[in-house]
Amino acid sequence: MILALANHKGGTGKTTTAINLGAALALKGKRVLLVDLDPQGNLSYSFGFDENQLDISYVLSEEKSFEEVVIHQEKMDILPATMRLSDIELSMYSVDEREFLLKNLLDSIKDNYDYILIDCSPARSLLTVNALTAADYVMSTILLDVLSIQGLMHIVRTIQEIKMVLNAKLEFLGVLAVNIDLRKKLSKEVIDFVKANYDFSFFQTSIRGNVKVAEAPSHGKSVVAYAPNSNGAKEYILLAEEIIEFNK
Ligand SMILES: Nc1ncnc2c1ncn2[C@@H]1O[C@H](COP(=O)(O)OP(=O)(O)OP(=O)(O)O)[C@@H](O)[C@H]1O
Ligand SMILES: [Mg+2]
Repeated sequence: MILALANHKGGTGKTTTAINLGAALALKGKRVLLVDLDPQGNLSYSFGFDENQLDISYVLSEEKSFEEVVIHQEKMDILPATMRLSDIELSMYSVDEREFLLKNLLDSIKDNYDYILIDCSPARSLLTVNALTAADYVMSTILLDVLSIQGLMHIVRTIQEIKMVLNAKLEFLGVLAVNIDLRKKLSKEVIDFVKANYDFSFFQTSIRGNVKVAEAPSHGKSVVAYAPNSNGAKEYILLAEEIIEFNK
């Protein structure tokens, strides 16, 4: 399954979820590839990689092979990104079939994995279009605020457009609420509002605000490795179980 994590609103927990869902799936014995497709490189930085790293831009430009660039860590394969990815993105515009560069790359290796998770930037960029063209499913993460919901509306529109022209089989898998505080009235109100007014399916699992989740990247680890007994680790493992069950 190729799953893109996308929401056109920034800072809604996409990268955090790619890392920790990936680590939880790997813990369950699944073969996982994480693809950092955001020139911010947040996912890569969270695993302790630096800007001088060979990254996915070299593979997209065919200067290096996938095997030369991929890194094995926490029982997963990780295809890192650096700022160089934004330079390569500009040159991608002049390539034929520019929307299919990531799809072509993943087609050649996807049989080696059970789950490929693509961490998108919030931009409606050619890179994000590549992610949605390569993916089977999209998952959106939201904070329980109206701006995340607005980002969700925007990504739904993008998905509809991609389905029409580039990737007919793309499906919306569900919305994951992250960093929530169920003691707060607003959190419950936003969930109820979205459920009542929109046709989005939510994952049964949601991820509460958890300091271990926020700390883990500064230790170069997922929360599953950094604090296995934390609520954050447990909730991401529940999410992994939910997705494995769906994928059966
Ligand atoms: N469950 C959580 N508990 C505490 N902090 C969290 C939780 N989930 C995410 N965060 C924090 O929220 C911030 C934004 O998360 P993240 O970087 O994953 O968002 P993003 O959607 O990838 O952002 P961008 O759109 O810039 O790529 C980070 O500082 C992260 O540590
Ligand atoms: Mg991110």
